[in-house]
Amino acid sequence: MPGLHTENLTKHFGDLVAVDDVSLSVEAGELLCLLGPSGCGKSTTLRMLAGLESPTDGDVYINDEQVTGQPPYRRNSSMVFQEWALFPHKSVLENVAFGLKMQGLDKAKRHEKAREMLEVMEMSEFENSSPPDLSGGQQQRVALARSLATESPVLLLDEPLSNLDKRLKEQMQIELKEIHSQFQRTTIHVTHDQDEAFTIGDKIGIMNEGRLVQVGPPREVYNNPKNKFIEEFLGETNLVEGSVTQVVSDGVVADIDMQESIRIPLQDHNLATGDTIHVSIRPEIIAFNAATAEVDSVRADGSHSFSVTGTVENLLYRGSAVRYYIDVGDISLFVEQTVRGSSVDEGSNVELQWKATDLVCFDQTGEKIQVES
Ligand SMILES: Nc1ncnc2c1ncn2[C@@H]1O[C@H](COP(=O)(O)OP(=O)(O)OP(=O)(O)O)[C@@H](O)[C@H]1O
Ligand SMILES: [Mg+2]
Repeated sequence: MPGLHTENLTKHFGDLVAVDDVSLSVEAGELLCLLGPSGCGKSTTLRMLAGLESPTDGDVYINDEQVTGQPPYRRNSSMVFQEWALFPHKSVLENVAFGLKMQGLDKAKRHEKAREMLEVMEMSEFENSSPPDLSGGQQQRVALARSLATESPVLLLDEPLSNLDKRLKEQMQIELKEIHSQFQRTTIHVTHDQDEAFTIGDKIGIMNEGRLVQVGPPREVYNNPKNKFIEEFLGETNLVEGSVTQVVSDGVVADIDMQESIRIPLQDHNLATGDTIHVSIRPEIIAFNAATAEVDSVRADGSHSFSVTGTVENLLYRGSAVRYYIDVGDISLFVEQTVRGSSVDEGSNVELQWKATDLVCFDQTGEKIQVES
């Protein structure tokens, strides 16, 4: 199984730098999810990998062989595009079997494999339909079946599930994961859905403005975001801006517009009094309760070093969770509870607590500052 890598891959469209010096590496058999906001260069990167777009600079390697100038069909890869192009005059079954025909399988074998994939995609009943008669989501599943049915060792998937509803999307994510662990094809899967990336990726690569910002296993990227952009993009978090009011021996004291200043234990830092600091208070680190007895017991074990009182300003039901927006001084923080466990109403006073060591901090340029743990 070949791996895939790029060296300094760059694409300009006129003055626009769509992809900027991307050096990316996917090991043989690995599934990398390329994630990032709209327009950050994901599709352009994938198209250069597939040979559908020629780089302005840099190279593409498959299995350490440079393939930069080679046409798509010489690259041993199969691709699903964002704008899935099916053959309108062929049936669904023939569309799915098409790639296998190119690989030289006889008709009976082709149809057998194509039917297997259509079944996985819940599209068996449409095998004789013609693509223009299908819905967008159905066409997308046919395109995905067509790519998965081939034996190409490299799969390049550009938002293959973007047109599916929530139920089908989650089901297909699981199918993709299973198919991947069965065949272990080197895969790049582009998405702007972070749940999808976290569900199926062995690794996640995050792009912003043409650049590859961070690559790593999902948990590592989530727990250790390299900069403020990634923290904001990945986590639904309370990201507040503050200013350093005091530099102390083990870190800083910062004013983040709450009633009280917060003390942040930092490892190496160059902050001075008056500097801007960005603090991410992730909802999952906030212990939150109206019942003060319970809060007191949390505090008594010494694990929560900071505590502040606020008022519930808003309640938002989001499926099985309730999100509370809590005013604390001049800022608003959100926390979540399950609907079943929800305990407070709008207007009530609550106490919020967190461990200072669970905060995630960034300097004024957005670079991470390591919090002492
Ligand atoms: N053929 C082209 N000509 C000119 N500009 C282009 C072309 N293709 C892409 N771009 C521009 O390059 C940038 C990156 O586009 P790209 O399609 O790679 O983004 P993306 O990350 O896939 O976004 P999305 O999530 O919306 O699909 C965008 O600003 C886009 O407008
Ligand atoms: Mg795209």
